Amino acid sequence: MTTQQTSKYANWFRDSTPYISAHRGRTFVVLLDGDALEHENLDNIVHDLALLQVLDVRVVLVHGARPQIDAALGETTFHQNRRITGPSEMQQILGLYGTLRSRLEALFSTGLPTSPLHNADIAVVSGNFVVAQPIGVLDGVDHQLTGKTRRVHTQRVRAALDAGALVLLSPFGYSPSGQAFNLAADELAADMAVALAADKLITFDADGYARDESGQPVTELSPTATDSLLDQANMAETTRSHLTAMLRAVRGGVKRAHLVSFTQDGALLGELFTARGQGTQISETLRDLIRPAMADDLAGIVALIRPLEESGVLVRRSRDRLEQEMERFLVAEIDGIVVGCCAIYAFDECAELACVAVHDSYRNANDDLGLGSHLLEAAEHTARAAGFKQLFVLTTQTRDWFLEKGFVEAGADSLPAPKQALYNYQRNAKVLTKTLA
Ligand SMILES: CC(C)(COP(=O)(O)OP(=O)(O)OC[C@H]1O[C@@H](n2cnc3c(N)ncnc32)[C@H](O)[C@@H]1OP(=O)(O)O)[C@@H](O)C(=O)NCCC(=O)NCCS
Repeated sequence: MTTQQTSKYANWFRDSTPYISAHRGRTFVVLLDGDALEHENLDNIVHDLALLQVLDVRVVLVHGARPQIDAALGETTFHQNRRITGPSEMQQILGLYGTLRSRLEALFSTGLPTSPLHNADIAVVSGNFVVAQPIGVLDGVDHQLTGKTRRVHTQRVRAALDAGALVLLSPFGYSPSGQAFNLAADELAADMAVALAADKLITFDADGYARDESGQPVTELSPTATDSLLDQANMAETTRSHLTAMLRAVRGGVKRAHLVSFTQDGALLGELFTARGQGTQISETLRDLIRPAMADDLAGIVALIRPLEESGVLVRRSRDRLEQEMERFLVAEIDGIVVGCCAIYAFDECAELACVAVHDSYRNANDDLGLGSHLLEAAEHTARAAGFKQLFVLTTQTRDWFLEKGFVEAGADSLPAPKQALYNYQRNAKVLTKTLA
Protein backbone atom coordinates (compact mmCIF):
# COMPACT_ATOMS: atom_id res chain seq x y z
CA MET A 1 0.00 0.00 0.00
CA THR A 2 1.37 3.48 -0.84
CA THR A 3 1.58 6.11 1.93
CA GLN A 4 -1.22 8.04 0.24
CA GLN A 5 -3.47 4.95 0.19
CA THR A 6 -2.65 4.21 3.83
CA SER A 7 -3.55 7.71 4.94
CA LYS A 8 -6.78 7.64 2.87
CA TYR A 9 -7.71 4.34 4.50
CA ALA A 10 -6.76 5.64 7.98
CA ASN A 11 -8.87 8.77 7.47
CA TRP A 12 -11.83 6.74 6.26
CA PHE A 13 -11.54 4.45 9.25
CA ARG A 14 -11.24 7.37 11.71
CA ASP A 15 -14.19 9.19 10.17
CA SER A 16 -16.37 6.10 10.35
CA THR A 17 -15.57 5.37 14.02
CA PRO A 18 -18.42 7.52 15.46
CA TYR A 19 -20.86 5.61 13.26
CA ILE A 20 -19.54 2.25 14.40
CA SER A 21 -20.41 3.05 18.00
CA ALA A 22 -23.64 4.85 17.05
CA HIS A 23 -24.96 1.75 15.22
CA ARG A 24 -23.96 -0.77 17.90
CA GLY A 25 -26.98 -2.54 19.40
CA ARG A 26 -29.38 -0.91 16.89
CA THR A 27 -31.92 -2.88 14.92
CA PHE A 28 -31.86 -2.58 11.12
CA VAL A 29 -34.48 -4.24 8.93
CA VAL A 30 -33.06 -4.83 5.46
CA LEU A 31 -35.05 -5.52 2.30
CA LEU A 32 -33.21 -7.36 -0.44
CA ASP A 33 -35.59 -7.91 -3.29
CA GLY A 34 -35.50 -10.51 -6.02
CA ASP A 35 -33.53 -8.36 -8.47
CA ALA A 36 -30.79 -7.82 -5.88
CA LEU A 37 -30.63 -11.60 -5.30
CA GLU A 38 -29.81 -12.11 -8.98
CA HIS A 39 -27.10 -9.43 -9.15
CA GLU A 40 -23.39 -10.22 -9.24
CA ASN A 41 -22.86 -7.82 -6.32
CA LEU A 42 -24.92 -10.07 -3.99
CA ASP A 43 -21.83 -11.70 -2.44
CA ASN A 44 -20.50 -8.27 -1.47
CA ILE A 45 -23.86 -7.24 0.00
CA VAL A 46 -23.97 -10.43 2.08
CA HIS A 47 -20.43 -9.70 3.20
CA ASP A 48 -21.39 -6.15 4.24
CA LEU A 49 -24.45 -7.42 6.13
CA ALA A 50 -22.20 -9.92 7.91
CA LEU A 51 -19.90 -7.02 8.79
CA LEU A 52 -22.85 -5.14 10.32
CA GLN A 53 -23.67 -8.24 12.34
CA VAL A 54 -20.04 -8.43 13.55
CA LEU A 55 -20.26 -4.76 14.56
CA ASP A 56 -23.19 -5.69 16.84
CA VAL A 57 -25.96 -4.37 14.62
CA ARG A 58 -29.13 -6.48 14.97
CA VAL A 59 -30.08 -7.41 11.41
CA VAL A 60 -33.46 -8.65 10.16
CA LEU A 61 -33.24 -9.50 6.47
CA VAL A 62 -36.40 -9.77 4.37
CA HIS A 63 -35.92 -11.10 0.86
CA GLY A 64 -38.20 -10.70 -2.13
CA ALA A 65 -38.62 -12.97 -5.13
CA ARG A 66 -40.68 -11.23 -7.79
CA PRO A 67 -38.49 -12.00 -10.85
CA GLN A 68 -37.89 -15.56 -9.63
CA ILE A 69 -41.66 -16.13 -9.21
CA ASP A 70 -42.32 -14.53 -12.62
CA ALA A 71 -39.84 -16.95 -14.17
CA ALA A 72 -41.27 -19.99 -12.37
CA LEU A 73 -45.00 -19.30 -12.77
CA GLY A 74 -45.09 -17.51 -16.11
CA GLU A 75 -47.99 -15.12 -16.51
CA THR A 76 -49.96 -14.37 -13.34
CA THR A 77 -52.56 -11.74 -12.48
CA PHE A 78 -51.69 -8.56 -10.62
CA HIS A 79 -53.98 -6.05 -8.95
CA GLN A 80 -52.53 -2.72 -7.75
CA ASN A 81 -49.04 -4.13 -8.13
CA ARG A 82 -49.89 -7.19 -5.97
CA ARG A 83 -49.75 -10.71 -7.36
CA ILE A 84 -52.96 -12.72 -6.97
CA THR A 85 -51.91 -16.02 -5.44
CA GLY A 86 -54.04 -19.15 -5.90
CA PRO A 87 -53.52 -22.37 -3.86
CA SER A 88 -51.38 -24.20 -6.45
CA GLU A 89 -49.24 -21.07 -7.03
CA MET A 90 -48.79 -20.79 -3.26
CA GLN A 91 -47.23 -24.27 -3.16
CA GLN A 92 -44.75 -23.36 -5.88
CA ILE A 93 -43.97 -20.01 -4.26
CA LEU A 94 -43.28 -21.62 -0.88
CA GLY A 95 -40.86 -24.01 -2.61
CA LEU A 96 -39.13 -21.08 -4.27
CA TYR A 97 -38.85 -19.16 -0.99
CA GLY A 98 -37.25 -22.22 0.61
CA THR A 99 -34.68 -22.40 -2.18
CA LEU A 100 -33.86 -18.67 -1.95
CA ARG A 101 -33.58 -18.82 1.84
CA SER A 102 -31.18 -21.72 1.73
CA ARG A 103 -29.15 -19.93 -0.95
CA LEU A 104 -28.81 -16.93 1.34
CA GLU A 105 -28.02 -19.13 4.35
CA ALA A 106 -25.31 -20.79 2.27
CA LEU A 107 -23.87 -17.40 1.31
CA PHE A 108 -23.73 -16.34 4.96
CA SER A 109 -22.03 -19.64 5.79
CA THR A 110 -19.77 -20.47 2.89
CA GLY A 111 -19.29 -17.09 1.24
CA LEU A 112 -17.25 -15.71 4.10
CA PRO A 113 -14.12 -17.93 4.16
CA THR A 114 -12.86 -16.13 1.08
CA SER A 115 -13.29 -12.71 2.75
CA PRO A 116 -11.66 -10.83 5.64
CA LEU A 117 -14.62 -11.98 7.75
CA HIS A 118 -13.69 -15.64 7.45
CA ASN A 119 -13.77 -16.15 11.21
CA ALA A 120 -17.16 -14.56 11.66
CA ASP A 121 -19.69 -17.18 12.61
CA ILE A 122 -23.06 -15.81 11.51
CA ALA A 123 -26.07 -17.74 12.78
CA VAL A 124 -29.03 -17.27 10.44
CA VAL A 125 -32.47 -17.97 11.90
CA SER A 126 -35.81 -18.17 10.08
CA GLY A 127 -39.17 -19.13 11.52
CA ASN A 128 -42.86 -18.51 12.02
CA PHE A 129 -42.43 -14.90 13.06
CA VAL A 130 -45.29 -13.39 11.05
CA VAL A 131 -49.04 -13.82 11.43
CA ALA A 132 -50.80 -13.05 8.14
CA GLN A 133 -54.36 -12.37 7.09
CA PRO A 134 -55.99 -12.41 3.67
CA ILE A 135 -56.34 -9.16 1.73
CA GLY A 136 -59.79 -10.42 0.71
CA VAL A 137 -61.71 -8.88 -2.17
CA LEU A 138 -60.48 -5.50 -3.40
CA ASP A 139 -62.30 -3.63 -6.19
CA GLY A 140 -64.16 -6.87 -6.88
CA VAL A 141 -60.90 -8.85 -7.25
CA ASP A 142 -60.52 -11.84 -4.91
CA HIS A 143 -56.90 -11.87 -3.76
CA GLN A 144 -57.19 -15.50 -2.58
CA LEU A 145 -53.92 -16.41 -0.78
CA THR A 146 -52.34 -12.99 -1.19
CA GLY A 147 -52.22 -11.55 2.28
CA LYS A 148 -50.92 -8.80 4.52
CA THR A 149 -49.24 -8.70 7.92
CA ARG A 150 -51.64 -9.17 10.79
CA ARG A 151 -49.10 -9.29 13.60
CA VAL A 152 -45.40 -9.88 14.16
CA HIS A 153 -44.19 -12.13 16.97
CA THR A 154 -41.79 -9.44 18.10
CA GLN A 155 -40.71 -11.33 21.23
CA ARG A 156 -39.58 -14.29 19.14
CA VAL A 157 -37.69 -12.08 16.70
CA ARG A 158 -36.04 -10.17 19.54
CA ALA A 159 -35.07 -13.43 21.28
CA ALA A 160 -33.30 -14.56 18.09
CA LEU A 161 -31.57 -11.18 17.75
CA ASP A 162 -30.61 -11.21 21.46
CA ALA A 163 -28.99 -14.59 20.84
CA GLY A 164 -26.81 -12.92 18.20
CA ALA A 165 -28.56 -14.40 15.15
CA LEU A 166 -29.37 -12.68 11.89
CA VAL A 167 -33.09 -13.16 11.27
CA LEU A 168 -33.94 -14.10 7.68
CA LEU A 169 -37.53 -13.87 6.48
CA SER A 170 -39.28 -14.89 3.30
CA PRO A 171 -42.35 -12.82 2.44
CA PHE A 172 -45.09 -15.06 3.73
CA GLY A 173 -46.92 -15.63 6.98
CA TYR A 174 -49.39 -18.05 8.50
CA SER A 175 -52.92 -17.26 9.55
CA PRO A 176 -53.97 -18.53 13.01
CA SER A 177 -55.62 -21.51 11.20
CA GLY A 178 -52.24 -22.46 9.68
CA GLN A 179 -52.92 -21.22 6.14
CA ALA A 180 -49.87 -19.70 4.45
CA PHE A 181 -50.38 -16.30 2.76
CA ASN A 182 -48.09 -14.70 0.24
CA LEU A 183 -46.99 -11.20 1.28
CA ALA A 184 -45.37 -8.28 -0.56
CA ALA A 185 -41.74 -8.25 0.63
CA ASP A 186 -41.52 -4.44 0.82
CA GLU A 187 -44.71 -4.23 2.90
CA LEU A 188 -43.48 -6.99 5.19
CA ALA A 189 -40.12 -5.26 5.68
CA ALA A 190 -41.87 -1.99 6.60
CA ASP A 191 -44.31 -3.77 8.96
CA MET A 192 -41.44 -5.66 10.55
CA ALA A 193 -39.46 -2.42 11.09
CA VAL A 194 -42.47 -0.72 12.68
CA ALA A 195 -43.37 -3.71 14.88
CA LEU A 196 -39.79 -4.05 16.13
CA ALA A 197 -39.46 -0.25 16.57
CA ALA A 198 -36.35 -0.68 14.44
CA ASP A 199 -33.82 2.12 14.11
CA LYS A 200 -33.64 1.77 10.34
CA LEU A 201 -35.29 0.23 7.34
CA ILE A 202 -32.78 -0.24 4.52
CA THR A 203 -33.99 -1.07 1.01
CA PHE A 204 -31.72 -2.06 -1.87
CA ASP A 205 -32.63 -0.59 -5.23
CA ALA A 206 -31.05 -0.81 -8.68
CA ASP A 207 -30.47 2.95 -8.74
CA GLY A 208 -29.67 3.71 -5.12
CA TYR A 209 -31.08 7.23 -5.17
CA ALA A 210 -34.54 8.70 -5.42
CA ARG A 211 -34.41 11.33 -8.16
CA ASP A 212 -36.20 14.61 -8.60
CA GLU A 213 -38.08 15.56 -11.78
CA SER A 214 -34.90 16.63 -13.52
CA GLY A 215 -33.26 13.29 -12.72
CA GLN A 216 -30.95 14.67 -10.02
CA PRO A 217 -30.29 12.37 -7.05
CA VAL A 218 -31.93 13.43 -3.78
CA THR A 219 -30.05 12.44 -0.63
CA GLU A 220 -32.40 13.59 2.16
CA LEU A 221 -36.18 13.56 2.12
CA SER A 222 -38.82 14.45 4.67
CA PRO A 223 -42.00 12.32 4.61
CA THR A 224 -43.90 15.18 2.94
CA ALA A 225 -41.23 15.61 0.27
CA THR A 226 -41.36 11.84 -0.35
CA ASP A 227 -45.12 12.09 -0.88
CA SER A 228 -44.61 14.72 -3.61
CA LEU A 229 -41.80 12.72 -5.19
CA LEU A 230 -44.06 9.67 -5.38
CA ASP A 231 -46.49 11.70 -7.51
CA GLN A 232 -43.92 11.66 -10.32
CA ALA A 233 -45.09 9.46 -13.17
CA ASN A 234 -41.65 8.54 -14.52
CA MET A 235 -40.33 6.66 -11.47
CA ALA A 236 -39.31 2.99 -11.79
CA GLU A 237 -41.99 0.77 -10.25
CA THR A 238 -39.50 -0.97 -7.92
CA THR A 239 -38.13 2.38 -6.67
CA ARG A 240 -41.71 3.53 -6.10
CA SER A 241 -42.51 0.48 -3.97
CA HIS A 242 -39.25 0.83 -2.04
CA LEU A 243 -39.93 4.51 -1.28
CA THR A 244 -43.52 3.68 -0.34
CA ALA A 245 -42.28 1.04 2.13
CA MET A 246 -39.73 3.50 3.54
CA LEU A 247 -42.42 6.13 3.99
CA ARG A 248 -44.70 3.58 5.68
CA ALA A 249 -41.88 2.69 8.10
CA VAL A 250 -40.97 6.31 8.95
CA ARG A 251 -44.63 7.28 9.40
CA GLY A 252 -44.93 4.22 11.66
CA GLY A 253 -42.17 5.56 13.94
CA VAL A 254 -38.96 4.14 12.41
CA LYS A 255 -36.35 6.90 12.74
CA ARG A 256 -34.72 6.63 9.33
CA ALA A 257 -35.22 4.69 6.14
CA HIS A 258 -32.50 4.36 3.49
CA LEU A 259 -32.46 3.51 -0.19
CA VAL A 260 -29.08 2.21 -1.37
CA SER A 261 -27.81 0.65 -4.56
CA PHE A 262 -27.48 -3.11 -4.91
CA THR A 263 -25.40 -2.72 -8.05
CA GLN A 264 -22.67 -0.62 -6.49
CA ASP A 265 -20.14 -2.37 -4.30
CA GLY A 266 -19.89 -0.76 -0.84
CA ALA A 267 -22.96 1.51 -1.19
CA LEU A 268 -24.43 0.21 2.09
CA LEU A 269 -21.22 0.95 4.01
CA GLY A 270 -20.92 4.36 2.36
CA GLU A 271 -24.47 5.20 3.40
CA LEU A 272 -24.13 4.00 6.99
CA PHE A 273 -20.57 4.93 7.89
CA THR A 274 -19.91 8.26 6.20
CA ALA A 275 -21.39 11.66 7.00
CA ARG A 276 -22.20 12.33 3.33
CA GLY A 277 -23.96 9.00 2.87
CA GLN A 278 -24.38 7.17 -0.41
CA GLY A 279 -28.09 6.86 -1.02
CA THR A 280 -31.41 8.49 -0.17
CA GLN A 281 -32.68 8.77 3.39
CA ILE A 282 -36.17 9.54 4.61
CA SER A 283 -36.49 10.82 8.16
CA GLU A 284 -38.48 13.22 10.25
CA THR A 285 -38.07 16.87 9.31
CA LEU A 286 -34.85 18.58 10.37
CA ARG A 287 -36.75 20.48 13.04
CA ASP A 288 -37.64 17.21 14.78
CA LEU A 289 -33.96 16.39 15.21
CA ILE A 290 -33.46 19.29 17.63
CA ARG A 291 -33.72 18.81 21.40
CA PRO A 292 -32.16 20.15 24.64
CA ALA A 293 -28.68 18.73 25.21
CA MET A 294 -28.06 16.01 27.79
CA ALA A 295 -24.89 15.11 29.68
CA ASP A 296 -24.14 12.34 27.16
CA ASP A 297 -23.95 14.91 24.34
CA LEU A 298 -20.74 16.47 25.67
CA ALA A 299 -18.37 14.40 23.52
CA GLY A 300 -20.51 14.99 20.43
CA ILE A 301 -20.60 18.77 20.98
CA VAL A 302 -16.83 18.84 21.54
CA ALA A 303 -16.25 16.86 18.31
CA LEU A 304 -18.51 19.27 16.40
CA ILE A 305 -17.13 22.59 17.65
CA ARG A 306 -13.38 21.86 18.15
CA PRO A 307 -12.49 22.25 14.44
CA LEU A 308 -14.44 25.54 14.36
CA GLU A 309 -12.61 26.74 17.47
CA GLU A 310 -9.28 25.76 15.97
CA SER A 311 -10.01 27.75 12.82
CA GLY A 312 -11.05 30.76 14.94
CA VAL A 313 -14.73 30.74 13.89
CA LEU A 314 -15.88 30.00 17.44
CA VAL A 315 -14.33 31.10 20.72
CA ARG A 316 -12.68 28.22 22.57
CA ARG A 317 -14.58 26.70 25.50
CA SER A 318 -12.90 24.21 27.79
CA ARG A 319 -14.44 20.78 28.23
CA ASP A 320 -15.12 21.59 31.91
CA ARG A 321 -16.91 24.79 30.98
CA LEU A 322 -19.00 22.96 28.37
CA GLU A 323 -19.89 20.29 30.91
CA GLN A 324 -21.14 22.93 33.35
CA GLU A 325 -23.04 24.77 30.61
CA MET A 326 -24.65 21.74 29.04
CA GLU A 327 -28.19 22.78 30.00
CA ARG A 328 -27.83 25.95 27.89
CA PHE A 329 -27.30 23.92 24.73
CA LEU A 330 -29.70 22.68 22.09
CA VAL A 331 -28.44 19.90 19.83
CA ALA A 332 -29.52 18.30 16.56
CA GLU A 333 -28.90 14.58 16.60
CA ILE A 334 -28.87 12.12 13.71
CA ASP A 335 -28.19 8.43 14.33
CA GLY A 336 -26.82 9.19 17.79
CA ILE A 337 -24.36 11.76 16.42
CA VAL A 338 -24.50 15.46 17.27
CA VAL A 339 -24.63 17.27 13.92
CA GLY A 340 -25.67 20.71 15.13
CA CYS A 341 -25.72 22.79 18.30
CA CYS A 342 -26.25 26.26 19.76
CA ALA A 343 -26.31 27.73 23.26
CA ILE A 344 -28.30 30.44 25.02
CA TYR A 345 -26.77 32.51 27.84
CA ALA A 346 -29.02 34.74 29.97
CA PHE A 347 -28.33 38.42 30.68
CA ASP A 348 -31.20 40.33 32.36
CA GLU A 349 -33.68 41.10 29.57
CA CYS A 350 -31.64 39.76 26.72
CA ALA A 351 -29.93 36.49 25.91
CA GLU A 352 -26.77 35.68 24.02
CA LEU A 353 -26.95 33.12 21.25
CA ALA A 354 -23.58 31.42 20.96
CA CYS A 355 -21.81 28.40 19.59
CA VAL A 356 -24.14 28.01 16.58
CA ALA A 357 -22.65 25.18 14.56
CA VAL A 358 -23.74 22.63 11.97
CA HIS A 359 -21.57 19.71 10.89
CA ASP A 360 -20.25 20.58 7.45
CA SER A 361 -21.90 17.52 5.87
CA TYR A 362 -25.30 18.80 6.94
CA ARG A 363 -24.92 22.48 5.96
CA ASN A 364 -26.96 23.99 3.15
CA ALA A 365 -29.39 21.07 3.40
CA ASN A 366 -31.56 20.37 0.42
CA ASP A 367 -34.69 21.54 2.26
CA ASP A 368 -36.80 24.70 2.58
CA LEU A 369 -34.93 25.60 5.75
CA GLY A 370 -31.53 24.19 6.66
CA LEU A 371 -30.45 22.79 9.99
CA GLY A 372 -28.77 26.06 11.00
CA SER A 373 -32.03 27.96 10.41
CA HIS A 374 -33.97 25.36 12.39
CA LEU A 375 -31.49 25.63 15.27
CA LEU A 376 -31.88 29.40 15.21
CA GLU A 377 -35.67 29.10 15.23
CA ALA A 378 -35.51 26.65 18.13
CA ALA A 379 -33.16 28.99 20.04
CA GLU A 380 -35.45 31.96 19.45
CA HIS A 381 -38.43 29.94 20.60
CA THR A 382 -36.58 28.82 23.76
CA ALA A 383 -35.41 32.37 24.52
CA ARG A 384 -38.89 33.82 23.96
CA ALA A 385 -40.47 31.14 26.16
CA ALA A 386 -37.98 32.06 28.91
CA GLY A 387 -39.19 35.68 28.73
CA PHE A 388 -36.24 37.31 26.90
CA LYS A 389 -37.04 40.30 24.70
CA GLN A 390 -33.87 40.34 22.67
CA LEU A 391 -31.16 38.02 21.36
CA PHE A 392 -27.63 39.10 20.55
CA VAL A 393 -24.80 37.25 18.92
CA LEU A 394 -21.08 37.93 18.43
CA THR A 395 -19.62 36.67 15.20
CA THR A 396 -16.51 37.17 13.11
CA GLN A 397 -17.46 35.22 9.96
CA THR A 398 -21.20 34.73 9.91
CA ARG A 399 -22.49 38.29 10.00
CA ASP A 400 -24.40 38.08 6.71
CA TRP A 401 -26.12 34.84 7.65
CA PHE A 402 -27.48 36.44 10.84
CA LEU A 403 -28.47 39.61 8.93
CA GLU A 404 -30.52 37.42 6.57
CA LYS A 405 -32.20 35.92 9.63
CA GLY A 406 -33.46 39.31 10.82
CA PHE A 407 -30.57 40.37 13.07
CA VAL A 408 -29.29 43.96 12.85
CA GLU A 409 -25.78 45.19 13.48
CA ALA A 410 -25.14 47.04 16.75
CA GLY A 411 -22.07 48.36 18.51
CA ALA A 412 -20.18 46.64 21.32
CA ASP A 413 -21.58 49.34 23.64
CA SER A 414 -25.08 47.87 23.14
CA LEU A 415 -24.00 44.66 24.91
CA PRO A 416 -25.13 44.06 28.50
CA ALA A 417 -22.51 45.45 30.92
CA PRO A 418 -21.02 42.09 32.04
CA LYS A 419 -20.57 41.04 28.40
CA GLN A 420 -19.13 44.42 27.43
CA ALA A 421 -16.50 43.98 30.15
CA LEU A 422 -15.42 40.73 28.51
CA TYR A 423 -15.56 42.02 24.91
CA ASN A 424 -12.33 41.20 23.11
CA TYR A 425 -11.50 44.24 20.93
CA GLN A 426 -8.71 42.32 19.26
CA ARG A 427 -11.08 39.65 18.03
CA ASN A 428 -13.31 42.49 16.83
CA ALA A 429 -16.41 40.32 16.52
CA LYS A 430 -19.50 41.94 15.05
CA VAL A 431 -22.38 42.40 17.45
CA LEU A 432 -25.81 41.64 16.03
CA THR A 433 -29.13 41.83 17.80
CA LYS A 434 -32.66 40.66 17.11
CA THR A 435 -35.81 41.72 18.90
CA LEU A 436 -37.96 38.73 19.77
CA ALA A 437 -41.50 39.52 18.72
C1 LIG B 1 -23.81 29.27 9.86
C2 LIG B 1 -24.26 27.83 9.87
C3 LIG B 1 -24.73 27.48 11.28
C4 LIG B 1 -25.41 27.67 8.88
O1 LIG B 1 -25.86 26.32 8.90
P1 LIG B 1 -26.74 25.69 7.69
O2 LIG B 1 -27.39 24.49 8.20
O3 LIG B 1 -25.92 25.60 6.45
O4 LIG B 1 -27.80 26.87 7.55
P2 LIG B 1 -28.98 27.05 6.52
O5 LIG B 1 -29.10 25.85 5.65
O6 LIG B 1 -30.15 27.47 7.29
O7 LIG B 1 -28.44 28.27 5.63
C5 LIG B 1 -27.64 28.04 4.51
C6 LIG B 1 -27.44 29.34 3.77
O8 LIG B 1 -26.63 30.23 4.55
C7 LIG B 1 -25.49 30.58 3.79
N1 LIG B 1 -24.34 30.72 4.69
C8 LIG B 1 -23.72 29.77 5.39
N2 LIG B 1 -22.70 30.29 6.09
C9 LIG B 1 -22.69 31.60 5.82
C10 LIG B 1 -21.87 32.68 6.24
N3 LIG B 1 -20.84 32.53 7.06
N4 LIG B 1 -22.15 33.93 5.79
C11 LIG B 1 -23.19 34.13 4.95
N5 LIG B 1 -24.01 33.14 4.50
C12 LIG B 1 -23.76 31.90 4.94
C13 LIG B 1 -25.28 29.45 2.81
O9 LIG B 1 -24.53 29.85 1.70
C14 LIG B 1 -26.71 29.11 2.46
O10 LIG B 1 -27.18 30.01 1.53
P3 LIG B 1 -28.24 29.58 0.39
O11 LIG B 1 -29.45 29.07 1.12
O12 LIG B 1 -28.47 30.83 -0.37
O13 LIG B 1 -27.54 28.51 -0.38
C15 LIG B 1 -23.12 26.86 9.41
O14 LIG B 1 -22.63 27.33 8.18
C16 LIG B 1 -21.98 26.74 10.38
O15 LIG B 1 -21.98 25.90 11.26
N6 LIG B 1 -20.96 27.60 10.23
C17 LIG B 1 -19.78 27.56 11.08
C18 LIG B 1 -20.06 28.07 12.48
C19 LIG B 1 -20.49 29.52 12.52
O16 LIG B 1 -20.10 30.34 11.71
N7 LIG B 1 -21.32 29.84 13.53
C20 LIG B 1 -21.82 31.15 13.78
C21 LIG B 1 -21.02 31.81 14.84
S1 LIG B 1 -21.94 31.96 16.32
